[in-house]
Amino acid sequence: MTDNNNSGIKKKIIDGRLIAKEIESSLSGKIAELKNKGVVPSINVILVGDNPASVIYVRNKERAAARCGILSKKDIYPQTIREEELLNKIEALNNDPLVHGILVQLPLPSHIDERTVMEAISPSKDVDGFHPMNVGKIFTESPPFYPCTPYGIIKMLVHYGISVKGKNCVIIGQSNIVGKPLAVMLMNRLAAVVSLNIYTKDIKSFTRKADVLISAAGKARLIDESFIKEGAVIIDVGISNIGGKICGDVNFESVINKVAGITPVPGGVGPVTVAVLMENTVKSAIIKSGINIKYKI
Ligand code: GUN
Repeated sequence: MTDNNNSGIKKKIIDGRLIAKEIESSLSGKIAELKNKGVVPSINVILVGDNPASVIYVRNKERAAARCGILSKKDIYPQTIREEELLNKIEALNNDPLVHGILVQLPLPSHIDERTVMEAISPSKDVDGFHPMNVGKIFTESPPFYPCTPYGIIKMLVHYGISVKGKNCVIIGQSNIVGKPLAVMLMNRLAAVVSLNIYTKDIKSFTRKADVLISAAGKARLIDESFIKEGAVIIDVGISNIGGKICGDVNFESVINKVAGITPVPGGVGPVTVAVLMENTVKSAIIKSGINIKYKI
């Protein structure tokens, strides 16, 4: 499937902005219904330090919340904050009935134990889906909230009619945020799943067999056409800043003629991740309010 003209390339783009818009639109009626009954869906974001990438991610989340009519509050703490102070803040948010979602932006400074912090968030407000209780429930397909990036990837595949049943799905990167939960979600959908990491020998021998290749390595332009087979679908989760230009793990120009579909960076996985976060927040508000609003998430 080679195609050099622009419309051919366009057809191969898995458009994250479009899918994010659809997810956000699907929330508007539910948010209006909640507000009619006096419930304003709300998310509280905690940002520690001034990591430039985290600042941008948090800003994108705030903007999405504003677009959707979700109340977002942000607490910014210095890099030097003590773990105990952070835990006290989380406890206060856990106990605040007006807060439906709590998100602590990662990474945290090295003197703070990320696991302890994630476990301090009430599973019922864990709109990131990072609490071990929610992570465990991915196995049984029953968490209140699926983690946003892997679930966003599933939504993108579904939107474009890409079934993973019986397909070879290869994931580069085994983080708790993306690689591991995504592997289980793909297994739940009857894919053959291979998990790779930076220590894997001869990565290409695996990636060349992938029907669906997901790269979450965080290594700019790692993947070129020599890594992939003809007709593969590529999901690029990487975000690197190279000389002020945002680029993914995949060398787009090198692979575009060989792939059946590809997520661009920017405009691919990122916007869908944020939209799923909004969806999780609305879901939490619905569950917590006890109002009878149907949702399918
Ligand atoms: N850092 C990078 N991605 C994420 C995410 O999805 N949630 C949080 N909380 N931190 C992140």
